[in-house]
Amino acid sequence: MDNLRSEGDLNISPGRVEWAGAHVDAETRAVLVEDARYFLHQSLSTPCLNAITACEGIYLVDAQGRRIMDFHGNNVHQVGYRNPRVMDAVRAQLETLPFCPRRYTNNPAIALAKELAELAPRDLNKVLFAPGGTSAIGIALKLARVATGRFKTISMWESFHGASLDAISVGGETIFRNGIGPLLPGTEHVPPPDPAHCPWGCTDTCKLHCADYIEYVLEKEGDVAAVVAETVRSTPFIPPNDYWTRVRAACDRHGALLVLDEIPTCLGRTGRMFACEHYDVVPDILVIGKGLGGAVMPLAAVIAREGLNIAKDRALGHYTHEKNPVACAAGMATLEYIEEGNLLEHTRELGAYALVRMKALKEKHAIIGDVRGIGLLLGIELVREGNRKLRATAEAERVMYAALSKGLSFKLTMGNILTLTPPLTITRAELDSAFDILDACIRTVSAETRT
Ligand SMILES: Cc1ncc(COP(=O)(O)O)c(C=O)c1O
Repeated sequence: MDNLRSEGDLNISPGRVEWAGAHVDAETRAVLVEDARYFLHQSLSTPCLNAITACEGIYLVDAQGRRIMDFHGNNVHQVGYRNPRVMDAVRAQLETLPFCPRRYTNNPAIALAKELAELAPRDLNKVLFAPGGTSAIGIALKLARVATGRFKTISMWESFHGASLDAISVGGETIFRNGIGPLLPGTEHVPPPDPAHCPWGCTDTCKLHCADYIEYVLEKEGDVAAVVAETVRSTPFIPPNDYWTRVRAACDRHGALLVLDEIPTCLGRTGRMFACEHYDVVPDILVIGKGLGGAVMPLAAVIAREGLNIAKDRALGHYTHEKNPVACAAGMATLEYIEEGNLLEHTRELGAYALVRMKALKEKHAIIGDVRGIGLLLGIELVREGNRKLRATAEAERVMYAALSKGLSFKLTMGNILTLTPPLTITRAELDSAFDILDACIRTVSAETRT
């Protein structure tokens, strides 16, 4: 580590050098070198792309003062960065009670738990806070074990539930699972509801074979504690209408709990407060996080059904910042802002408009294999023009870096899906300018690919 003193040690990929090298000044380069010197390197983290100094609304501001529309934001920024209501609540709370030691309680924590219990469907009434989504998933897994006396789980290939050992055991993304050693036992995996890559060959009409296969595994194993899945995968994979009711019924028949992970998709991202509301399905345990801290504080929550209040002499979470008053004040202000700002309706309207624009892009650019979205969780999938089953990963990366250089940041998932998750506070004009950037970048990359 001590040797990491020069730019060469950054080891950034050619695409990044183009962005970082051509567009990043000497001062920022020095910051990147310092970052690479003092942080443990890991995939998708250090070395970094750029350094930022401020954020506001839908924008990040980099060290050179350039504004970047943030259509990624790690899915924390439903209410936009430095949302005034959240910032005021955090400031006020900092001045009176910034921390709450274990075995004491405080009004901001109770108020947030009460509000979540009221907002969550039916009897999802019992809350436990955690300092991050991964820890909340750990709580849900433990609670499912205590409730059922079983330990096995069924979860999805390609899913992500966090980075700890228990979470990567149920997660299904190779990059997080490989090279780490033995994972938790009894973690069965099944294909996700993704018609475009369906192993049963459902493409245009989904026959829900993937839901039936979950029941098959539940029956064969016979002692599964929980089915753990993202209601809507933030790729996005948007399951067909009947998918969750079928899985819910299978869980009930086989005595397994249904744990839905809505850590990145809760609080309006899909146009509803909780994604499960689209499917009229109620899990036994709903896990939320990310945006709950209002893009300021780390905060996640487990919301369990009333009957699962059964582990009073076990430690399910026991995290130091369990009832952190500042995080809870940020959470409450976030919920109030979503409601008072009519953000759910705004998201549904803009989401529908985004789909129209994305479909128009698909008509125009042969490299686009599919477009999909729910609320402001949007995906544009790039495929090889010669063979539309092949993922256009190199092209997607070029589109991403080209967009970055024009001030639009987003994430690639599975290598070829441009995943767009802007703050829900975005205006139609801002959304339009992002699609104009994408249009131009896709046009350029498609033309370069053909020549
Ligand atoms: C679906 C899902 N679950 C869990 C997590 C983990 O949350 P955290 O990073 O807060 O631990 C993430 C984070 O990206 C996520 O997308």
